[in-house]
Amino acid sequence: MALTQIKEKLYWVGAVDWNARDFHGYSIEGTSYNSFLIMDEKIALFDTVKKPYCRELLDRVREITRPESIDYLVVNHVEMDHSGSLPEIVAAVKPEKIFCSAAGKKTLLDHFHHEDWPYEVVKTGDKLSLGKKSVQFIETRMLHWPDSMFSFIPEDRLLISSDAFGQHWATSERFDCEVDGERMMLLAAKYYANILLLYSPLVEKLLEQVQGLKLDIDMIAPDHGIIWRSRPQDILKAYAKWSRQETRRKALVIYDTMWESTEAMARAAYSGLLEEGISAKLMNLKVSHRSDVMTEALEAKAFLFGSSTLNNNLLPRMADLLVYMKGLRPTGRIGAAFGSYGWSGEAVKQIAAAMEEMKFEVPDAGVRVRFVPTAEDLAKCVELGRKIGAAVKASTPAA
Ligand code: FEO
Repeated sequence: MALTQIKEKLYWVGAVDWNARDFHGYSIEGTSYNSFLIMDEKIALFDTVKKPYCRELLDRVREITRPESIDYLVVNHVEMDHSGSLPEIVAAVKPEKIFCSAAGKKTLLDHFHHEDWPYEVVKTGDKLSLGKKSVQFIETRMLHWPDSMFSFIPEDRLLISSDAFGQHWATSERFDCEVDGERMMLLAAKYYANILLLYSPLVEKLLEQVQGLKLDIDMIAPDHGIIWRSRPQDILKAYAKWSRQETRRKALVIYDTMWESTEAMARAAYSGLLEEGISAKLMNLKVSHRSDVMTEALEAKAFLFGSSTLNNNLLPRMADLLVYMKGLRPTGRIGAAFGSYGWSGEAVKQIAAAMEEMKFEVPDAGVRVRFVPTAEDLAKCVELGRKIGAAVKASTPAA
């Protein structure tokens, strides 16, 4: 088994999951569960892996040392993709101590019900000496669970960042300089949009806190995906931008359609946006996954939602998207609704209610069309696109 050394006497001992395609509704291209082993006077293992990959982790550890020689386990995050194999690892390692946050201890007890594990609760600022190396703990509550924390290794200038700064991507490579940098950043954006967007105010505060701690970081090792070795500052800058929910002059026309009437309306609204010089994208939910919509939404100022009415309701894919988007809380956006209907026509009102919940600015009552749009109806949709485009221009500086 090939060993991956991250720093001197510091190894990646995680696992790559080539088959994962869904993470709680977010479409992914596989992922990795990253676990790190420090060999020092005290041997420490940081995070573990999803349960089916426990043996792989232990086999990687055995290439370096006997699992029983590990002294400390550090649990930066309890979600099962990082702790699923913990009971088996604890049994194999018999650790002297398990370091975790106070919420981490509670969450571990709620998951595994082991009162007898040797928990050692740490908080921000606590330090642990391993010999030549040490660990500085930083709690990152609600990023993205109450238990989450970072472990900083000052001697290696390495930040082990749990879920933050990760990407869901299965690769044989482990470092940013070995992969397509643009693709890596796009997948990091998708990860942020689908997991962390709702916590943006906390991300902003955390970045300030990390700056205040004056951590001398030259490498960021997240628990998923590729390690930021050659350009850790790039992902810190990207997180700062995403957490401010900075948008540009871009609009998404997101729709589902039964007999192409709503689709014709979507295309008309899209042409109105183009007439205003707005960068626009048509996203038919039959072919665009909700998580890809959210990735595009990260920098889009406006969303125009279109749905036919089916059985007095939205089409199911639109209902799904709106529930997913509401949970991720994009803020400061402009919205509009449109759709075709036969006799009741509730879809546009239901979209309007969802936009109100998301506190979107809605400058128009929207366009509803009975069955098939006329040329006049389509002209109203073009006008809707133009109106939203003008609102985007008025509120967003030109790039
Ligand atoms: Fe990768 Fe929140 O688990």
